Amino acid sequence: MTEGGSNAMWGGRFSAGPDAIMEAINASIGFDRRLSDQDIRGSKAHAAMLAQQGILTQADAEAIRDGLDKVKAEIDAGDFAFSTALEDIHMNVESRLRELIGAAAGRLHTARSRNDQVATDFRLWVRDQCDAALTGIATLQRALVAQAESGADWVMPGFTHLQTAQPVTWGHHMMAYVEMLARDAGRFGDARARMNECPLGAAALAGTSFPIDRSATAAALGFDRPMANSLDAVSDRDFALEFLAASSICALHLSRLAEELVIWSSAQFRFVVLSDRFSTGSSIMPQKKNPDAAELIRAKIGRIVGASMALLVVMKGLPLAYSKDMQEDKEQVFDAADTLMLVLAAMDGMVRDMTANRDALEASASSGFSTATDLADWLVRELGLPFREAHHVTGALVALAEGRGVDLPDLNLADMQGVHPEIRAEVFDVLGVRNSVASRTSYGGTAPARVREQVARWKEALA
Ligand code: ARG
Repeated sequence: MTEGGSNAMWGGRFSAGPDAIMEAINASIGFDRRLSDQDIRGSKAHAAMLAQQGILTQADAEAIRDGLDKVKAEIDAGDFAFSTALEDIHMNVESRLRELIGAAAGRLHTARSRNDQVATDFRLWVRDQCDAALTGIATLQRALVAQAESGADWVMPGFTHLQTAQPVTWGHHMMAYVEMLARDAGRFGDARARMNECPLGAAALAGTSFPIDRSATAAALGFDRPMANSLDAVSDRDFALEFLAASSICALHLSRLAEELVIWSSAQFRFVVLSDRFSTGSSIMPQKKNPDAAELIRAKIGRIVGASMALLVVMKGLPLAYSKDMQEDKEQVFDAADTLMLVLAAMDGMVRDMTANRDALEASASSGFSTATDLADWLVRELGLPFREAHHVTGALVALAEGRGVDLPDLNLADMQGVHPEIRAEVFDVLGVRNSVASRTSYGGTAPARVREQVARWKEALA
């Protein structure tokens, strides 16, 4: 489409075409071809609106619509010759349209600019990714809820500082991630709602003198309304930043679960067995079964947070309105979105397939003085000790047991009474880990009964 070495889109002012290096730094077609579907949808909505407003003839609008359908079919079939000389997806599509339908193609760009065009395309694309993230999150939540349901009363150690703290249930631990993911979904939902305004018709930056109907194009593209300020419409990318921020936090949550799976699947813990389908072997050590998927999920957050930082830095300090800097938004968001969908799917597969080792979980929960708090609470409840004193008495009993290399339930009543004479035999009831978790019935607590309530609530919400 270049004519006489210059560019047919703006060749009127130019006598020479671009240097090869200029073309290399300027072109975005290598990546923004991913916006072809959004670009063509936007153009069809724009052309239909122009005809409805009497700005285009019905015949031209129909030729444009049919031509755009052909362009889309060529792209979908892999038959489209993308050209770097044509810089970006917008000019590639328009140029091919001109080859297909002739001069009418030149009327499509009436009352619009690539600035509002790309802002519209990109919003449509990011909006789809919000929907994909919501679907991926819900799928993973279902897998976690299924794990929680089967192990609602399985006892495992709860940790603080990665030191045994108090017994909890497997179901409760799984449901903690369901809650985190619910807030992630909320963030994607909020971002989606906020970004769902249409930039199209802002034109280059100032709006247009043509009598366009921006509400019509907004509605045709599924937006709630047109954006109210043309300068803002073409020059902000906060919708993409919000998507990246929500993605970063979601990836962070996944990295924490991934880290737990790495630890839990080790020979030292044996809390879970990951399936062969989501593990790899070692080329030298025959015994190895490695949690590579979990490790990669733990690592891939780096790309997503990196994309978020990169776009923040690109946007920082840009004067209004459009600057070419903004072309640097796309690769970051594309990579982050691809990565997020992959890690959500991989985590879903791993969680769905994994088997928790109930016996190892309970054995581990029973060691490390995990019911020391239950003992202290008993001293408060039954003997009326102030909590601080109960804490002290319990500490002395832990030291006694530790010195003998045993756990709290292994001490006998005489040992206990040696530290506090009023301690009675019933105290042993609270030293068992099952009783411990069953007693934590406060709202949001780890008691199996409470976990089952949450499982039921989430099963209904995710159905
Ligand atoms: N490829 C450009 C981008 O991604 C499209 C908008 C170009 N606008 C302009 N005035 N050069 O941002």
